[in-house]
Amino acid sequence: MSSTTNGVESTTGERPAVEEVDVTQFAIQDMREYARAIAHGGTVLVFDTTLRDGEQSPGATLNTQEKLDIAEQLARLGVDIIEAGFPAASPGDLDAVRQVAETVGRTPRQGPDGEIVAPPTIAGLARANKNDIDKAWEAVQGAVRPRIHTFLATSDIHMEHKLRMSRNNVLEAVGDMVQYARSLCQDVEFSPEDAGRSDPEFLVKVLEVAIQAGATTLNIPDTVGYTTPEEYGGLITHLRENVPGGKDVIFSLHCHNDLGLATANTLAGLQAGARQIEVTINGIGERAGNTSLEETVMAIHVRKPVFALETNIVSTEIHRTSDMVSRYTGMVIQPNKAIVGANAFAHEAGIHQDGMLKHKRTYEIMDASTIGLNQSRLVLGKHSGRNALRTKLEQMGFHVNPEELKEIFRRFKDLADKKKTVTDADLEALVGDEIYQPVETWELVKMQVQCGSGLTPSAVMTLRNNRTGDTVTDTSLGVGPVDAVYKAIDRIVGVENNLVEYLVQAVTESTDANGDVTVRIETPDSRGFKETAQGRPRRRLFSGRGVDTDIIVASAKAYLQALNKMLATQEADSSTVAIAADAVTPA
Ligand code: KIV
Ligand code: ZN
Repeated sequence: MSSTTNGVESTTGERPAVEEVDVTQFAIQDMREYARAIAHGGTVLVFDTTLRDGEQSPGATLNTQEKLDIAEQLARLGVDIIEAGFPAASPGDLDAVRQVAETVGRTPRQGPDGEIVAPPTIAGLARANKNDIDKAWEAVQGAVRPRIHTFLATSDIHMEHKLRMSRNNVLEAVGDMVQYARSLCQDVEFSPEDAGRSDPEFLVKVLEVAIQAGATTLNIPDTVGYTTPEEYGGLITHLRENVPGGKDVIFSLHCHNDLGLATANTLAGLQAGARQIEVTINGIGERAGNTSLEETVMAIHVRKPVFALETNIVSTEIHRTSDMVSRYTGMVIQPNKAIVGANAFAHEAGIHQDGMLKHKRTYEIMDASTIGLNQSRLVLGKHSGRNALRTKLEQMGFHVNPEELKEIFRRFKDLADKKKTVTDADLEALVGDEIYQPVETWELVKMQVQCGSGLTPSAVMTLRNNRTGDTVTDTSLGVGPVDAVYKAIDRIVGVENNLVEYLVQAVTESTDANGDVTVRIETPDSRGFKETAQGRPRRRLFSGRGVDTDIIVASAKAYLQALNKMLATQEADSSTVAIAADAVTPA
């Protein structure tokens, strides 16, 4: 995707082009002053952690290019802070955060009225030890607005069983490590992990120490999604009122969704005076996930009189961002998911349609166009030219380069020959399949499959290795056509893996629809291969997605994409350093 689309190009000649803007003007001069202004104002800062907490979801592993693309899209979406990763996890993770900081973190963007606004703050997560904090600083310092986010658990259960630290040890570590982070970076966020289950009086002391040591954002994680809205909102009120200096720093909300209460808890925290929300796109994250950005932002937007707050989010970018994250992570969105699910704006039940025809607002509380969902059905036909396609894609908000346009046009023509109507959904799927492609080692050249009643399914696959230039053909039998295809691919690629998920969806209705296949694979020894920031084992799953009117071809493409990701990650991981689960005491 074109990187220039992130910025502002001067069309009138009156505004400077983004490249001409001195980005240092966007550095925050006095962090305490800035935090005080936010804490007392009506703007909610959106801290997106899709690339850190979201990436901790099983199977959501992203490579560096995918992280950069998502970060660029998050900037376009208008998020204020991007938590780009956990740099101490591995040299690869550090490098990805550094690249996000040095590109997206230095590119001004376009505000709602066309004005040029600051690049997002880029945050790196660090446990409360010097090594992690040094790595986080090394990774984020290239951004115009860098942030170190450090954390240490404060619940009795975590202190006793995970950290093996006393309350006094924890207080001392928080003071020392926040001060150390502050000596490197003026923007420091501190999180008492498992705050939702911590003793509120002990939390008051911990947060007082963090403020004195220089933290300007205090994040209150409900790490295990245990609290109810009343409890969580009450905790925020208690902390704001009792932590000395608490009224002049930004309280931040970080909720997990184990009881399905993450969005409700986050909204309760906002009503209690917090001014930062930590969220992920589509609510992805460990276990049941994190608070979803789209739900919280749209609640603030649709129920403005209730919250009397605003965000800097460009809501028309929500759908596109959601789609990109779903494609890259392979995490399919449930159809009834609020805001971004396929059914969220579909009014199919007869009674609803009748009501809708009489008055749109009877069953619809927001317009699909608010989240950037273009609902026009018939798009282009088989006689449409390349210009018409480009114009349509631009209207849909896709920014494609000439090479990509050429390929999408070829596939569009192919599809238009097979299908009577090509819809927006078809085009979105094609664009997604073309643009959101990681660098591929193995590419499908051609395939032939035989199957049917009374026949043993067989597949002949020809693949090209883009690294060596070799083209290899092999064949296999299988219990079904997809099995035969996957076995033939395995014989060529030769990488051991288990298929853990295979899903086919139709992009549109009717039998000539595009098939959209998602697969997830894992290496046989992948369980616990890598650890999360909190020291929990992380299952490494690799996902792939393929679109074609022939679902067997779509299946082959999806499998190859997952294999290519696995190969690339294994290569990057060869330099991974093991993380000690208990490396949380100050070094
Ligand atoms: O859920 C959690 O506690 C976290 C912290 C690291 C902020 O993700
Ligand atoms: Zn979390």
